[in-house]
Order: sequence, then structure tokens, then C-alpha cells
Amino acid sequence: MKKQVSDTFSIRNTMIRNRICVPPMVVYNWSDGSGYVDDKHVEHYRQLAHGGAGLIIQEATCVTAEGQLAQTQLGIWEDGQIAGLRRITQAVHAEGCPIFVQIHHAGIVGIAEHALCPSAYQLGDKTGAEMSVEQIHAIQQAFIRAAQRAYQAGYDGVELHGCHRYLMCQFLNRRVNTRADVYGEHPEQFVLEILEGIRKTVPEDFVVGIRLGAFEPTLEDGIRHAKILEQHGIDFLDISYGFTEEQETEKPAGFPYKDIVYAAGEIKKQVSVPVFAVNGIRTPEDARGALELTQVDMIDVGRGSLANPNWTADALAGRETDTCLDCSVCQWRIDPARCA
Ligand code: FNR
Repeated sequence: MKKQVSDTFSIRNTMIRNRICVPPMVVYNWSDGSGYVDDKHVEHYRQLAHGGAGLIIQEATCVTAEGQLAQTQLGIWEDGQIAGLRRITQAVHAEGCPIFVQIHHAGIVGIAEHALCPSAYQLGDKTGAEMSVEQIHAIQQAFIRAAQRAYQAGYDGVELHGCHRYLMCQFLNRRVNTRADVYGEHPEQFVLEILEGIRKTVPEDFVVGIRLGAFEPTLEDGIRHAKILEQHGIDFLDISYGFTEEQETEKPAGFPYKDIVYAAGEIKKQVSVPVFAVNGIRTPEDARGALELTQVDMIDVGRGSLANPNWTADALAGRETDTCLDCSVCQWRIDPARCA
């Protein structure tokens, strides 16, 4: 049956009200450095939910203070943070929208002076030292505790941040992860143990998905990771860039959307769990076309939703949604009024 943007479907027991997802997007300038939620976050997510999205995935929210990408990033590393996060889930649910939270550790890309990395690795001026097995276990526990807190805060699920150069992605990418132990022999092991740990501690209907790199570094790697994660019970695969943006698979000539949209479609052919595609979707025609060409289950609309929080409602009502996707004013929530 032909997939429509307006279709409803469910992931475990979470009802998704249409096929447009607001993907995770950090807002740096609202937190005071404690990782705690501000009123502005609550209003931001309430607005996005009011705008009709089928699902919201909250911005990368850090599982340890040292794993932050920036000091102003939201956190989920201590119980005191739960009450603020609960305000977000209540505001979003009151608008009839489900919400997952993306749980994140930046690894070598993070603010910590002695950044963690699966192997000794140089990234720009950052040098990562190989993590000990004890450090690996401690970070895995931090992810598992973060998922428990997410459940307590009322989220419908979590998305593991497994792409964009951050810690999980560093484990999954064999150019970065050159370890000689089980975490190097099986690059998925770090993530799988976290998945297993979360499953043991949250109720059955709590959703656990991942944002996964399509090119890690090749699409073949991305497909293999997707299949292994599916075999181990992942609930959805939100496909984006991996450690490198220099992907090693070309989309076929004439494919009208970005490479990672194409890659999401290739992954969808190999798995039966829901797959999400992202990048550069501006108009309802783009969303419809990408759904049809790739047969994925969700289309992420990121910058489009920041520029116009009502993107989905407008698209479903046949109103204009085309927006500039390159406006740093909107992207970083500086002052959208200045966009005029
Ligand atoms: C992002 N993106 C992003 N991705 C992610 O996995 N976690 C995050 O916290 C963020 N943060 C973030 C902030 C801002 C301001 C932007 C613009 C982007 C990437 C985002 O989810 C999405 O993949 C890209 O924006 C591409 O989709 P669009 O914008 O072309 O629809």
C-alpha cells in the first residue's frame, strides 16, 4: 500500500500520528551550564508539538557532564534533572504528540580535556586516549541510567545517538575503533550491551531506537550495523551521517534527494523495523516523493521545523512550507523575528 504523510502507525505501543518527525536538534543558548531544562525549552517543544509533527525526538541530551559537546547542552545524568525533563514531556503530550529523547555522549568531540575514544585517535587538535574496559562499562551504565531517567520523566522512548562522530559512532566506525578486544572485533558490541542493559531495566513498551550512520564508512557497514541492531531488538533506525561525511557510496544518477535519504531507502530494503530518513526535506512534495522512492516509514524535517514550527500542520493542510534551510538565525534560535 502506498505510504502517505498522514498515515498513523505505532512503534511498540507508541502511536505515531503521521510520518513527519522533528529530529533531534540542540539549542545551545538556553541552558545555564547545569544541563537543566529552562522554560524556553518547554515552550520550544510545546510549539513543535502544537505544529502537528507525528513524533518529536528531543535534542541530544548528555548522559554524563564530561560527555557534553558544549557546556550549555541539556543533561540527563542526574536524578535532579528529571523534573525539568518531565515538564517537556507533559507539554508535548498535552498537544497529542509522542516524544523520545536522544541520549548522547560526545566522546572525543566533547568538552572534556581528556576526551574518551575507543582507540587512540587524533581529531583536529583533540587527542583521544584508548578507553579502558572499566571506562567503557561506566559509560554504558551512564546510558542505561539515562534511559531509566527518560522513562521516569515520561518520554515514550529513547534514541541512542549513534552517528555524527560522537562516542557510539566512534565505536561503530572501524577507522576510528581499532581496538584489539571484543569492542574492536565486534564494533557493534558497545551499543548492543547498552541496548540489552536498557531493555532489562525499562518496561516492555518503552521504545529504544538509534540514530545510525549510513556510511560507517561505507553503506555496506551501515547496512550490516542496521541488520545486527534489528536482530538484537532495536525498535527503529533513524538514518543519518556517520563518522565521516565523505561517504563512499554514490546515489544513482537522477535520485532527487540527498545521499543519506537514498541510503535510508537501501537500509529499509534490508530490515523490517521502521526506518527514518533525513536531510534537505523542505516541502510536502519532497516528503511525499522521498516516502515513495525510499519506502521508509518516517521523514525527518529538521531545519524546516525550526523555521516554521507548524511545518507538519501546514503540509497536511496543503499550505506552503518551503523555507530557507540555511538560516543560522532560525537554526540556533537566536531571534526568529530577525529573519523577516
Ligand atoms: C542538528 N542536528 C542534530 N542531529 C542529532 O542527531 N542531534 C542533535 O542534537 C542535532 N542538533 C542539531 C542542531 C541544529 C540547529 C541543526 C540544524 C541540526 C541534525 C538534524 O537532526 C538533522 O539531521 C539535520 O538538520 C538535517 O535535516 P534537515 O534540517 O535538512 O531537515
